[in-house]
Amino acid sequence: MSVQDSSFQMDSLIAEDIDAYLDQHQHKSLLRFITCGSVDDGKSTLIGRLLYDSKMIFEDQLAALQSDSAKHGTQGEEIDFALLVDGLAAEREQGITIDVAYRFFTTEKRKFIVADTPGHEQYTRNMVTGASTADLAVILVDARKGVLKQTRRHSYLVHLLGIKHLVLAVNKMDLVDYDQRKFDEIVRDYGEFAKEAGIEDFTAIPISGFKGDNITAAPCSNTPWYHGHALIEHLETVKLANTAAQERSFRMPVQWVNRPNLDFRGFAGLIAGGTVKPGDMVRIVPAGKTSTVKTISTFDGDMDEAVAGQSVTITLADEVDCSRGDVIAAAGDPPEASDQFCSTIVWMDETAMKPGRGYWLKLGSQMVTATVQPPKYEIDVNSLDHLAAKTLELNSIGVAEFSTDRPITFESYEKNRELGGFILIDKFSNATVAAGMIDFSLRRAQNVHWQPTTITRDDHSSLKNQRPRVLWFTGLSGSGKSTIANEVEKQLALMNRHTFLLDGDNVRHGLNKDLGFTETDRIENIRRIGEVSKLMADAGLIVLTAFISPFRAERQMVREMLPDGEFIEVFVDTPLEVAEARDVKGLYKKARDGELKNFTGIDSPYEAPETPEIRVNTVDMTPVEAAEYIISQILPLK
Ligand code: ADX
Repeated sequence: MSVQDSSFQMDSLIAEDIDAYLDQHQHKSLLRFITCGSVDDGKSTLIGRLLYDSKMIFEDQLAALQSDSAKHGTQGEEIDFALLVDGLAAEREQGITIDVAYRFFTTEKRKFIVADTPGHEQYTRNMVTGASTADLAVILVDARKGVLKQTRRHSYLVHLLGIKHLVLAVNKMDLVDYDQRKFDEIVRDYGEFAKEAGIEDFTAIPISGFKGDNITAAPCSNTPWYHGHALIEHLETVKLANTAAQERSFRMPVQWVNRPNLDFRGFAGLIAGGTVKPGDMVRIVPAGKTSTVKTISTFDGDMDEAVAGQSVTITLADEVDCSRGDVIAAAGDPPEASDQFCSTIVWMDETAMKPGRGYWLKLGSQMVTATVQPPKYEIDVNSLDHLAAKTLELNSIGVAEFSTDRPITFESYEKNRELGGFILIDKFSNATVAAGMIDFSLRRAQNVHWQPTTITRDDHSSLKNQRPRVLWFTGLSGSGKSTIANEVEKQLALMNRHTFLLDGDNVRHGLNKDLGFTETDRIENIRRIGEVSKLMADAGLIVLTAFISPFRAERQMVREMLPDGEFIEVFVDTPLEVAEARDVKGLYKKARDGELKNFTGIDSPYEAPETPEIRVNTVDMTPVEAAEYIISQILPLK
């Protein structure tokens, strides 16, 4: 088959006039798809083939198209690159490059955006980005090589990311003499894997990207034994996700609140599921208040109905509290709000997952702090076995439980990609470290409620006639934390202050005796101490803690647990050489001799505070002087 036979429309309009082009193509539906497979499976050739002879729009034109399509209020077709792309775009601004090329082309029946992502394992994040908005995935297999590890990996990933339409494109058929047995064998192999992976259905097509066989039209004389559609025909006819999304209950995460004057309060967002009409009863989640939809509008004016995929502004009949991050939903079937859930995650960062650490979790317009538990298991994408794991490394996939600092509104990813998919962002590097797909909320979260007490923390503190504080000493082992903290407590006691000193070595004999010195254990050590300090501060005490607390993130976490101004970071800034020379407990020597692993300052990191409230050391000052200085810095105590 020759290239000229292709049914693509040459469209000379496009280069000249994007507006006219869009008008002409507005009525066509849009299919987003992703191509994936192993490195040499012929992806570029296939994409080249798809674009060849069709009028394609390059990425720089996509931006123009995007703003144009927004201006036109194109139904369900705004080029809204969802969640992941947001996060990754933010990352790109900071100079970390990503490599997903979105290409646009069109046929008589449909418009297409294809996400072209690199095939190597190290590009998993790009694949996840590309797949997060796609309706269909074309999995390429080289007919000579059959189903490879990367084929399985990518198939599993796109399945996890909720892509319901899979095409197994068995490529390079020309190089195996269009051998039907070869094709059948690959389809059988893939079928076995698909079944195990929970992939319900896939469409297998024998193609040659290079020669053009079964790309635009079938049957093709080289494969008389194949009676299905050509690839393009298939892409033109699959049912779109938007149609399915419209059949669900109504949900719209509020992106922003539009208040041009006192008489108008509009809630703007992208409809993530269902349809909505003026007069519909809706519920604001998580608050739970109900109201009725008054108007629905876009740039072009009011509408009688809006559907999933459209960006609209809604006004309500009542003055209810509703802001960015809330979800407006069908009153009778609202999504869940919870602060604990179980999720499948794909780890995408060089630095492994740190259980216990707080990350930013971004789900649509909601942003919260989330802590991840050690994984329940990791998934071997080849065998699909569940492996025991303490953490997740770059490119690994696993299942773990999360807790967030306040409830978020979500649905299972299976039900709703927009409300079930999230990204995790490292609070310090701002890198997007993982993509998550929520499986279900944990019931324990729904059964445990905060119990208000009559005597408040203010009552406790005024009874003690002091303002609660947490003096958080941090520094190397042997830096003098315990000695100075002890001295501070002594002096405070002489001033009739109510204090309590939590010391690393002591707490590790009791509350934390199950913890060692791995990163994960140290994070948990500090988390528990943070919680205990907070309780003691609630009880009105001046708390002193003496722990190495080597990681910035956990010290920050404790800071955020406490009211402003109550967390006082005291950096005992004794140089390593001095602490090591003292070596009071003989531990530095052991560490240097290799008898003690993960020793802070030797083979485990210490992240010094950048802007501590107070800095002391035991080289220039005696412990008594240091203590006096610290107290002078926290006066008055009431
Ligand atoms: S932290 O890193 O988790 O904050 P913590 O302050 O509780 O540490 O405990 C530190 C004390 O444990 C040190 O003062 C030292 O006596 C002892 N220790 C034993 N093993 C280690 C180790 N590998 N690294 C650091 N301290 C250790």
